[in-house]
Amino acid sequence: MADAPFYLQWHITSRCNLRCAHCYQSDYADQISESLFQEGLEKFGRHLSRVGAKGQINLTGGEPMLHPDFFSFAQKIRDAGHRLAILTNGTLIDAAAASRLAALQPVFVQISLDGTREAHERIRGAGSFDAAVAGIDALASAGVKVLVSFTAQKSNAHCFEALVRFCGEHGVHKFWWDRVVTDDPALYLTTAQFRALTETANRLRRAFVDAGARMKVDNGRALQSTFSDAPCYYACSTGRGLLIFLPDGSVMPCRRLPFVIGNYRDGELEEIIRKSELMTQLRGAGIPKECVYCPKASGCRGGAKCVTYAQTGQLFARDVNCFYEG
Ligand SMILES: C[S@@+](CC[C@H](N)C(=O)[O-])C[C@H]1O[C@@H](n2cnc3c(N)ncnc32)[C@H](O)[C@@H]1O
Ligand code: SF4
Ligand code: SF4
Repeated sequence: MADAPFYLQWHITSRCNLRCAHCYQSDYADQISESLFQEGLEKFGRHLSRVGAKGQINLTGGEPMLHPDFFSFAQKIRDAGHRLAILTNGTLIDAAAASRLAALQPVFVQISLDGTREAHERIRGAGSFDAAVAGIDALASAGVKVLVSFTAQKSNAHCFEALVRFCGEHGVHKFWWDRVVTDDPALYLTTAQFRALTETANRLRRAFVDAGARMKVDNGRALQSTFSDAPCYYACSTGRGLLIFLPDGSVMPCRRLPFVIGNYRDGELEEIIRKSELMTQLRGAGIPKECVYCPKASGCRGGAKCVTYAQTGQLFARDVNCFYEG
């Protein structure tokens, strides 16, 4: 059996109590039925047996905790022997919910914070900051590993350092950031902003390590890790080791790329993957032609496909925010 888990990011609902400025969803109404959940769980289990990997299911949405069967689904995932993680906006987690989550022994619960209060609420709406922080505090008190996810965009890049320090004081285990995926220039980062954030994250990562802090500042996403002094590279691995399920059973290689490759109601995952030309292309993707002379190319492999595709329509090209000057 392979050491690395096979990841399933399962969007059990698109309903949400927030409407964030950058959200990639356009529909906020759908939610999975009990029977379709059961079918998906069984098909994922069979897929794991075929590929010889253990599974990690990241339950998400929309806001996954709005689904009336959220806790029952989470328990079924654990009963099936998979690792469980939750990706949530954190606003629905009080002490009682935190202790129910702790009982599920998730590998982590990820909560989105998109800035210090003012920037976060400009993106996520009034009242959303204190509610998310209350969720973080409740989880930390219940002994659950909390990851904070920061989606970097034009309106929040300035408060990155203040937010990292704030999280360091709230029992957060890991601060994780990534770039917004959009074709809207009013939202996406300039390359200069991306470079400044990467350098700030590197400096904070070292400072937190040197101070022996509990919180890890992660600078490990595609392209960030290329310019980080962290010990390993992360290359975009879409097409391998990850699948996405939507509430209606649609299957995608990545939630941040706008491609559906089938629906698991129509067959086994192996068959859906085998029939998808896109999956074959993604699995076979080499180094983009603009990157072949770059000494970082074997690790970086062109950076983040989702960010570049959204801005240029090119799937196999050099990352739009690359600042390598060789
Ligand atoms: C879709 S949300 C689902 C979980 C929960 N509702 C939340 O906001 O955390 C998961 C993560 O995707 C991020 N996200 C949403 N739209 C995005 C986009 N266009 N580009 C990059 N990340 C995005 C959110 O900020 C959040 O951190
Ligand atoms: S909380 Fe999550 S799902 Fe809801 S609008 Fe914001 S990013 Fe989208
Ligand atoms: S040139 Fe290509 S491989 Fe090199 S750092 Fe930039 S995106 Fe990565």
